[in-house]
Amino acid sequence: MDKILVHGGKRLSGHVRISGSKNSALPILAATLLTREPCTIGRIPDLSDIHYMLTILQHLGCEVERASGKVTVHAANLRSTETPYDIVRKMRASVCVMGPLLGRERIVTASLPGGCVIGDRPIDLHLKGFAALGAEVVNRAGNMEVRAERLRGSKVNLRGKFGSTVLGTGNVMMAAVLAEGQTVIEGAAEEPEVADLANFLTKMGANIEGAGTNRIVIEGVKELRGATHNVIADRIEAGTFMVAAAMCGDGVTLHRVHPSHLAHVIETLREIGTEISEHGNTITVKPGAAHRAAKVDTRPYPDFPTDMQAQMCAMLATVPGISVITDNIYPQRCMYVSELKRMGANIEMQGATAVVNGVTSLDGAPVMASDLRASAALVLAGLTATGTTEINRVYHIDRGYENIDDKLNMLGADIERVKA
Ligand code: EPZ
Repeated sequence: MDKILVHGGKRLSGHVRISGSKNSALPILAATLLTREPCTIGRIPDLSDIHYMLTILQHLGCEVERASGKVTVHAANLRSTETPYDIVRKMRASVCVMGPLLGRERIVTASLPGGCVIGDRPIDLHLKGFAALGAEVVNRAGNMEVRAERLRGSKVNLRGKFGSTVLGTGNVMMAAVLAEGQTVIEGAAEEPEVADLANFLTKMGANIEGAGTNRIVIEGVKELRGATHNVIADRIEAGTFMVAAAMCGDGVTLHRVHPSHLAHVIETLREIGTEISEHGNTITVKPGAAHRAAKVDTRPYPDFPTDMQAQMCAMLATVPGISVITDNIYPQRCMYVSELKRMGANIEMQGATAVVNGVTSLDGAPVMASDLRASAALVLAGLTATGTTEINRVYHIDRGYENIDDKLNMLGADIERVKA
């Protein structure tokens, strides 16, 4: 397995181009199943999660062509409506082929994704939405079979005890676009990735209003056509680079971003003392004179994202004073904390809350990445640590960050990737 060596203590400066959003690209690629005509999606990041999604689409019978950030999917003839366990277990987002397959074929069999290292990740709300559209849901030996003679529009509330569901909202929307009549999704996820998916579906001929708010209204249509679309910028990659720049930058400008998607991250970094300026699709970040401890609470969009929690903790680990970080979406998303402690951080977990007592500096050490955002947090910690941080299991980072080592090195970092 590859590992990454971060030789800490370098200052970052210059310009970085943010990639297309992984979490937009995955459901949008799944949505191409809804039409027999070819669709071309641009700004697709080169990530292993995207590779898994394309493998699933090919398994289902799609023709897939990929060239320089663009993917064309042609789902003229599907040969299967079953998703293979082998891939589902590697990537939970594979559940988002369920909605389009149900919408188009009226049947889908999907392996249950199971939990993962960031906590329990059920799909009950997705299934509740499918059932509201008239589908029957049967669990057969770990496989969910969802089928319907007819899909009929209906009203469904997708708010769960940790807020709404992002992929669940997308899944139900993708089934409802080909249902008969009107579907109203209440308690819908408001994330920009849901709005991006709705924009793509609308280009395909779907009739959707309210995406990006907590109430989405869909008028079913008979069929959809092929379309082209560019996915939005990855707000979590952008947020990660902003934190890196806040920790050890001398002025870093992020290009091709949507600052409005990062409003809460920007506000939090400003509270800590970071200087941030926004101009059109660019954001410039400077550390500011002195950093202050902060209180960070993750909640669904437009609040502070759970996907930025670990990176923020890596930053606050060396900010003087006591910071308090609570993850209200994935209360168990804290496995990286013990790795930061190995580097000298002073963090105590109290349930879903990390109480961080800022230390003067971190020391490089061998550490283990447990999930995607945890690995990003360890890279950030390594950038400011003294000596070398050796990050093992870096395949996690390749799931969601396109060339993060090269991009950081272009800004002045000293990161080596050691091939297995
Ligand atoms: C999406 O996952 C993202 N993944 C996650 O990104 C992100 O952390 C998450 O949204 C929250 O923002 C993709 O878009 C591919 P949820 P999703 O359903 O949609 C509970 C990353 O690092 N829930 O919105 O699967 C759930 O347990 C990641 O890029 C139910 O109770 O997340 C959680 O507490 C990982 N029942 C909360 O809702 C359900 O049926 C939000 O989960 C579904 C979810």
